Amino acid sequence: MDHFATVPTGIGGRQVKSIKEIMRASAELNAEGVHIGGSDRESNHSYGDAYESLFPDRSAIKLVMEVGVADGSCLLAWRDIFPNALIVGMDIHPSDKAHGERIEFHIGDQRSKDDCERAAAGRQFDLIVDDATHLIVDTLLTLYWLWPSVRPGGLYVVEEWPSPDPARITTLWPQVEIINTVGPFGGVEPLVIFRKSYTGKWVAD
Ligand SMILES: C[S@@+](CC[C@H](N)C(=O)[O-])C[C@H]1O[C@@H](n2cnc3c(N)ncnc32)[C@H](O)[C@@H]1O
Repeated sequence: MDHFATVPTGIGGRQVKSIKEIMRASAELNAEGVHIGGSDRESNHSYGDAYESLFPDRSAIKLVMEVGVADGSCLLAWRDIFPNALIVGMDIHPSDKAHGERIEFHIGDQRSKDDCERAAAGRQFDLIVDDATHLIVDTLLTLYWLWPSVRPGGLYVVEEWPSPDPARITTLWPQVEIINTVGPFGGVEPLVIFRKSYTGKWVAD
């Protein structure tokens, strides 16, 4: 699938900032353009266009969770990207900027079922993003525990998939979507997307 074929230019006909622009603005760079703080999604990585291709109507997104939020700048970016969404963050460390309108933050360990379920609180998310330890066991356990909290039709996205060969994921989940982004330093960085079907199975109908 060509994920970048239908990058939208706006929400409901209005021109809005692209996801890439919002992510770029959420990074703090030094005079040499090196990432020194904030969210690194468009400084150390290039995930903006990939996310843009996943959300043709950003205004429809109501509930988002990110696991691994650093200083919380990524939560503020999601809030700008999804103007009608509550943004829930969880991190093992406190987070300076993870507060304010439409932001909810939980201290929690992705390796703990209880912490994952406490943060999800029985809700159904349009999008859950894992950008925490990037260790394969943690990644798979968190996916397993939070999968029931993805709404039918929703997405569970893993950044920096912890495997040298992400294509092997398709052995377990044949219809998993992988968007190969090219990072700013030239390497290919796969974004791994689990799309929940409307029947609640692992893959799309
Ligand atoms: C790559 S950084 C996240 C970057 C952030 N998403 C952004 O866009 O700027 C990884 C984060 O995962 C958090 N983390 C590490 N181990 C964790 C764990 N076991 N459970 C939850 N968060 C963890 C770290 O504290 C750190 O903030």
